[in-house]
Amino acid sequence: MRQRKIAPSILDADFLNLGEQIEKINKGKADLLHLDVMDGCFVPNISFGPKIVKSIRRITKIPMDVHLMIENPEKHLESFIEAGGDMITIHVETVKHLDRMVQRIRERGVKCGLALNPSTSLSTVEYLLPKIDKLLIMTVNPGFGGQKFIPEMLKKIRNAWKMIENSPQLIDIEVDGGINFTNVCDVIRSGANVIVAGSLIFKNDNPEEAIIKMKNMIINCK
Ligand code: DX5
Ligand code: ZN
Repeated sequence: MRQRKIAPSILDADFLNLGEQIEKINKGKADLLHLDVMDGCFVPNISFGPKIVKSIRRITKIPMDVHLMIENPEKHLESFIEAGGDMITIHVETVKHLDRMVQRIRERGVKCGLALNPSTSLSTVEYLLPKIDKLLIMTVNPGFGGQKFIPEMLKKIRNAWKMIENSPQLIDIEVDGGINFTNVCDVIRSGANVIVAGSLIFKNDNPEEAIIKMKNMIINCK
């Protein structure tokens, strides 16, 4: 069975005290660290680049999943791998030759994820599934933390699960955006096994506790 994992996003963390915030994720024993890189072109917001990723690498052993919401990800791929990204996730909407890009990521020995905006069809990744480690289904339009979950995405998650359930390799289905304690079991039951949570954790007075609570919840969803 695919392991259920919690992946805190630091997008809504206090960047003045980033070290302390990462320490809370370490203490909460998160499975993955979800790093949202935004360029102000593909999405309307700008976040951070490889320098921050590299600094975070020094203070955590948690595998880092770099979610690239940027145009021309091929231009920056190398710098995020060098910064210590364990998995690089690119948006299918940003790449002309997706198969080539997937190969390039894999050749560098890091894991590869493909992300889909809410309006992008699953068929865009169908023929690449045997080559990827993770499918990221955006459950909000990318760009900001704290948005509302788009309920139609439950059907997309179910359809994604139908596409991968019989595949020989383990492909994670990650959901990103608007996940909270109320809807998390719905997405798990639909087929997701990696849960990104940003504002839920960092708008909480006790991020460490929120991670532990979310982790327990996703493990126990039936
Ligand atoms: C949205 C980002 C998300 C976001 C999640 O573009 O990819 O990772 O920060 O934040 P919440 O959990 O607040 O929706
Ligand atoms: Zn993200």
